[in-house]
Order: sequence, then C-alpha cells, then structure tokens
Amino acid sequence: MSKPQPLLFYPNAAPDALAILRQALAAHQSGHALPRAFYKDPQIFELDMRHFLLAHWHCVGHSSMVARPGNFFTLELGGESVIITRDADGQIRALLNVCRHRGSRICDESQGHKANGKFVCPYHGWTYDCSGQLLYARGMQESFNPAEHSLRQLAVHVEEGMIFITLAREPLGLEHMRQVFAPAAKVYGWSHAKVAARKTYSIAANWKLVEENYQECYHCTPAHQEYSKRHTYSRPDALRQGPDQALRTRRQALGLNLHEQDFYYTTAHSGQESADCIASAMVDGFLTGSADGRAVAPLMGEFRGKGYDGGFSFIDLGPSSNFVAYPDYTLLYRTVPQTVDRTDFELIWLVDQDAIEGVDYALDRLTWMWDFTSKEDQRIIEVNQLGVNSAFFTPGPYAPMESCARLYIDWYLQAMRALVDDRTAAHVEQ
Ligand code: FES
Ligand SMILES: [Fe+2]
Repeated sequence: MSKPQPLLFYPNAAPDALAILRQALAAHQSGHALPRAFYKDPQIFELDMRHFLLAHWHCVGHSSMVARPGNFFTLELGGESVIITRDADGQIRALLNVCRHRGSRICDESQGHKANGKFVCPYHGWTYDCSGQLLYARGMQESFNPAEHSLRQLAVHVEEGMIFITLAREPLGLEHMRQVFAPAAKVYGWSHAKVAARKTYSIAANWKLVEENYQECYHCTPAHQEYSKRHTYSRPDALRQGPDQALRTRRQALGLNLHEQDFYYTTAHSGQESADCIASAMVDGFLTGSADGRAVAPLMGEFRGKGYDGGFSFIDLGPSSNFVAYPDYTLLYRTVPQTVDRTDFELIWLVDQDAIEGVDYALDRLTWMWDFTSKEDQRIIEVNQLGVNSAFFTPGPYAPMESCARLYIDWYLQAMRALVDDRTAAHVEQ
C-alpha cells in the first residue's frame, strides 16, 4: 500500500441539526456577529466539523518533527487520533490510529521513535510498518490477507517543510497555495527550520470565537499593550492603508520575493485551498517580536546575509493554520476544536535548523511575545464565550478593523448555507 486513501468522512447530518442550523442562519444579520447557537449548539458544532473544518487542509507540524524513518507524533483532529510518521522510504505518512482488527488505538504516546519501524497494537499484537502496512497478525486463518488490513491513511502534503493533512473525501486543490504560501515559506526559510518550542493553550470557548479573535486586531489596543507597542498592525489605519509602502520598498531593496495576497476568505478560488500573505511593519526600534526589540534567533531563509526588513508577515492557509513570520523566527498557530465550548490552540515556534539552543537562542526570549499575547487572548476569548452564553446576547456589528474576522465568518457561513441548500434541494427531489 503506498497511496493515501482520503476518508469518506461525511455522515449524513441529522434532520434536527439542519433545522437548528437553518434557524440560526435565518437569525443572522449580515455584518454582525453570529447568533448564540453558532457558539453554543453541539449539533451545529458537529456540522461545523464535518462540513467546514474537516473539508480543508490543516498544518499539523514541521517535517523536522519526523526527521528520521521511524520518528512519529500523534495528534487529534476532529475527534480522530492520527499518527504522523516517516516510513522506511522517507515518505511522511498520516495514519489513522485505529487498529484494523478490533479497533484498538495502536499508539498512545504523543511522540517518539520506533527503532524497528513497527507499530504494535497493544491489544492482540497486530504489527504495522510506518507506511501503515500490516506486517503480522498472529494466529489468523489461512485465508486471511494482511494486504487488505492496512491502516487507513489521510492525504498528506508537505510544502517547504510544513506538513498538511486533510480528512476530505475530495481534497481541495493546492495550486493557489503554491502561488501564495510556498514563495512566502521559501523567503522565511521554513524548509530549513526546526521546532524550538511547542505549547498548547486550552480555551473554554467555541472555535469560532478563537478564530474571530485571531482574525482581528480591534482588540489589540485594549487587550494587548505589549503587542501594540511593537506591531503597527494594532493601529486603526493599518488595514485601511494596506501594506506599508516603506516596508514594501525595504523588501524590494533586499530582493525578497513575497507574493502579497490580501485576505482570502472569499469564493475567488473555488475548489482550491485558501492562502494569503499579508505584510505588516514593526514599530520603529523593534526588529522582531521580542521584549526588547532585538533579535531572538539567527536570521532565517532569505534574510540571512541581508538583515531585517522592519516587518513581519501573516501567512494563512485554510481555516485553522495561521503563521506569524519574523525574519528570525516563525510562529505556527493551530486552532484545534475539541468540543462545542472547548478549543485548543497550539503554538509552534520555528527557528533555523542550525541554531543551537542556549548558544544562538534562549527559549524564554524566543517565546515571550506570543506566550504573553496568547495568555491575554485566552482570557478575552473565554470572557467572550461567557458573555455570548447569556440569553440577553444580541450580536452587534463588526467594526471596520474587524473586516478580516467578518470575511472569515462570511466564508464559514457560505459553507453552512450551501449545506442547508443542498439538503433542501435533495429533499425536494425525493
Ligand atoms: S485490536 Fe489491535 S490487534 Fe486486536
Ligand atoms: Fe489577540
């Protein structure tokens, strides 16, 4: 078995779930925050997962996390446990962590190395290799064919060192991603990076509140004073003026080829995974996202030998994978919905792969900016959820500085409306 087999992952929605969704959609007022049901109702959460989030590509980490054959890590996505591993041929695989015998979870470690290249089910000992192939099933009938019992696999795509997986039956195309994401990833040197730190924040809130918060900086001035001192993005005119011209000129002078692409949450690239790359300037005196404005790690990618550009980039792919890239480090921000009112976000800090901890970078300096900011975000998102839970919550209008959050939510609503319309049409046809 060598070809990934994308899953059939669209169980029929329960009719009452669709009725709840239809009612919530009808209650939504354009340009306003979502009605409460979108943040509270477990049935809408199930529809979100099956018909929006899991239909997309998700970045799950960096290839250095499975640098050698036999290396692996596990993750949860949409209630499924997935093993990311590198097989004997060097190919990265995403294997469903469900034994093909009687369904036991095969691997319960978060990461590690299989020196013999084998995953052994703890229940009855069926043994698989790192490509998912069943090597051994003791005591089975003569007629048993191991080739028919390989682990199920998800589609995997590796772009400039970043690993993406999808549970979609028909994965979205990646042409648009190659035009926007890949050049930016090259400039920031992600194929020559390594993971310096990982941290997960467990947020007592619906995933949409987490993403809406990520997508807007209207909250930055009141909620993130340290971030706002360092990043011009928090200023009211940041979005209206578009990419900073002085930053653009500096980038051109450095010969950096970043394909700037404005916010992507539209239908412009139907059938394609969404990607964007947005430039933003640092405040004068700050080279990077650090406490004192000075470098926290060696320059990466095309910045090596050239120096700082006085800016950073937001690079986004699909609905859950957000990158904040500075010349000396990159932060991957993964939104991972768990339940209707609980969402993890995982932060992964990348530095150049030759950088040595304790010599070239110190973890506390590297992680300070976004650990600090994320703890502030955790607090404001959780109190947002508490307020939204109120029977008196009436969704108010988005501010101009929240235009990206609005675009994101419109994009989500488009998928939800299509779901209702499809089902309505199917019903009419019968
Ligand atoms: S459930 Fe895995 S070997 Fe039986
Ligand atoms: Fe924030």
